[in-house]
Amino acid sequence: MLTEVIGEMGGDPTSQTPCADISAVAAMGLIQVLTDPRTTLAQGLQALLTAELTDNAAWELLIELAEQGGHDELVPPFQKALSSETEHEEKIRQWLRTMVMDEAT
Ligand SMILES: [Fe+2]
Repeated sequence: MLTEVIGEMGGDPTSQTPCADISAVAAMGLIQVLTDPRTTLAQGLQALLTAELTDNAAWELLIELAEQGGHDELVPPFQKALSSETEHEEKIRQWLRTMVMDEAT
């Protein structure tokens, strides 16, 4: 969806901007956590929660930017994506909470 939106706005969705570069570097840290054989399931969920929280913040920001920039047609699909990411965040929070609380008792 974002590839289409960027293209329609005259941008190049394949360009590696400084922000995209930083996001990729940050994501590499999460991938390292997830692919380390010593990582526990709870630690993996913690890393996924970091990614989901970041996704949610990014969609919230994009919605705000679309509204402010007068791109009202983009708000509903962006809100749909945010809703989906919020669902992911809630599930991962729940799984992590259950796992940690079970270990604590
Ligand atoms: Fe997600």
